[in-house]
Amino acid sequence: MSSLNEKTDSKTTNKQVQNVIQGVRTSDGAGVKLTRIIGSQQLQMLDPFLLLDCFESDDPNDYIAGFPPHPHRGFETVTYILDGKMRHADSRGNEGVIEAGGVQWMTAGKGILHSEMPEQEQGLLKGFQLWVNLPKSEKMCTPKYQEFSAKHIPIDTKDEAFSVKVIAGQSDSGVTGPVVNLHSYPMYLDVMMHQTANFKQSIPSTHNAFVYVIDGQLSVADLAVSAGQLAVLGQGDSLELRAQAQSRFLVIAAKPMAEPVARHGPFVMNDYDELKQAFIDYQQGKFGCLAEP
Ligand code: CO
Repeated sequence: MSSLNEKTDSKTTNKQVQNVIQGVRTSDGAGVKLTRIIGSQQLQMLDPFLLLDCFESDDPNDYIAGFPPHPHRGFETVTYILDGKMRHADSRGNEGVIEAGGVQWMTAGKGILHSEMPEQEQGLLKGFQLWVNLPKSEKMCTPKYQEFSAKHIPIDTKDEAFSVKVIAGQSDSGVTGPVVNLHSYPMYLDVMMHQTANFKQSIPSTHNAFVYVIDGQLSVADLAVSAGQLAVLGQGDSLELRAQAQSRFLVIAAKPMAEPVARHGPFVMNDYDELKQAFIDYQQGKFGCLAEP
């Protein structure tokens, strides 16, 4: 005898936590203090994610020097600003300010030279930079930008216990983020819990995924994950966690490239020869130059 309420949809498998990573304090650019969460000895990469930095300070000495002109080739940089403002200018004549709540998804492709400088002399600057790899076929593509201010990032408020800013991918109640990416089909969610509650999100089983806790405390598959920690998720197609009220966290996932990685500093290619060529091209000025302000 079968129950009338028996579910007929296919079973989901909850993701377990493979590893919990604590970021490492370091500095980059012209001395910006930041926490490196992916791209350190503890977690060199989580294919296709090459780096995740969190910068957060209300002391101008920690950020004012910014990131003066530097090149990128072979991947994408994703800058998400929570507080403060960052001015961006590149060798192709693009310039703009990413304001609080805004995101810039830059496909560096064959190469750009750019600067990323705080557009403020005091106050809190807080945000993230994520590096996402490009497949071999796209590493030398023409650079492009997808930029969205806070008001162009939809917020899923269908569950009263939390709200989800959907930057990329789709929330479980069907809100789709504005970023389009046909290389790694990313998911980038910023989840704010308003009360102690469960949170559930499907994630394609093809994807590598992680949760990064910005504030508060989560219990993911019975494992405690606190502010400043990243939980690498294992196989499965669903994330289920319990969060304390006032928690905030990122859920980020993408399809791995499963290709060899040759990286050094701002260049990420497939082999050593391509990496060497990137340095030669840069030294020969092929990344262009930045107009003096
Ligand atoms: Co950069």
